[in-house]
Amino acid sequence: MRVTFCCDDTRPDAWLQGLRTALPDAEVDIWAPGSPQADYALVWAPPQRFIDEQPGLKAMFNIGAGVDALLPLCLPPGLPVYRLEDAGMAVQMAEYVCQAVIRFFRGLDGYEADMAQGLWQHRPNPRRADCPVGVMGLGRMGERVARTLTVFDFPVNGWSRTPHAIDGVRGFSGTRELDAFLAGTRVLVNLLPLTPDTENIIDARSLGLLRSGAYVINVGRGGHVVDEDLVAAIDGGHVSGALLDVFRTEPLPEGHPFWAHPRITLTPHTSARTLARDSVEQIVGKLAALVRGETVTGRVDLRRGY
Ligand code: GLV
Repeated sequence: MRVTFCCDDTRPDAWLQGLRTALPDAEVDIWAPGSPQADYALVWAPPQRFIDEQPGLKAMFNIGAGVDALLPLCLPPGLPVYRLEDAGMAVQMAEYVCQAVIRFFRGLDGYEADMAQGLWQHRPNPRRADCPVGVMGLGRMGERVARTLTVFDFPVNGWSRTPHAIDGVRGFSGTRELDAFLAGTRVLVNLLPLTPDTENIIDARSLGLLRSGAYVINVGRGGHVVDEDLVAAIDGGHVSGALLDVFRTEPLPEGHPFWAHPRITLTPHTSARTLARDSVEQIVGKLAALVRGETVTGRVDLRRGY
């Protein structure tokens, strides 16, 4: 069996070593134009040339949860594509989002600024009821985030394409319930997959529906947010700030208005890092199940986009 690795932006060593240890009888290599035919591939944003040169693939494993980079490609019909399911990312996402929600709710930026100026003062206690958190996207990571937020007693709303029942989370679904979800939300957390249906979903209209003094946390994809609408909503005062981990172009281009905005906090696409060891373990488990002819979870529906 030959397994190939086509992930340009990823340091390959841990992946190759993990694959070679777990699959001692397999040939494991890094793909380059002209490489021999492989049976299975691990990919991240592969070029079309890779797809064209590997018509014999039995399955392709995306080494991330989001598969938006695969959607523009012309893939052989019927090629099974699997995404990572959690693989150690959901807990990271929960900790990243919860620290941000708590930081916003408790006004910690303000306290830190006060203390930096030698000011010892208390601000009014925030009311949890005034801080409903709305989680968009209730896949593996969104669900973990929503459930973790309920531990801190925040009112939590969840929105997804199809209904998802999560204990302690008020569920909304489909386009028809989007506005009601937004209107009941103060902190908006985006974990949606990027598809033609969700692109630009955080625009002037949806930001305007949020409760006043809203806060936006984007850990989905940059393409979900209309950048200039977010800046305008913050400058206009309806939205009080944002924490952004993902951007339309990454790295965020020099001179982009997000860089210098005093109410926007940025991190470099780091909310949930892909963990090579956990991911290899998951992928090898799926690969072995496929070889045994079993059904495997996490298959991407490319028409749906996730
Ligand atoms: C990262 O952004 C991922 O899709 O896993």
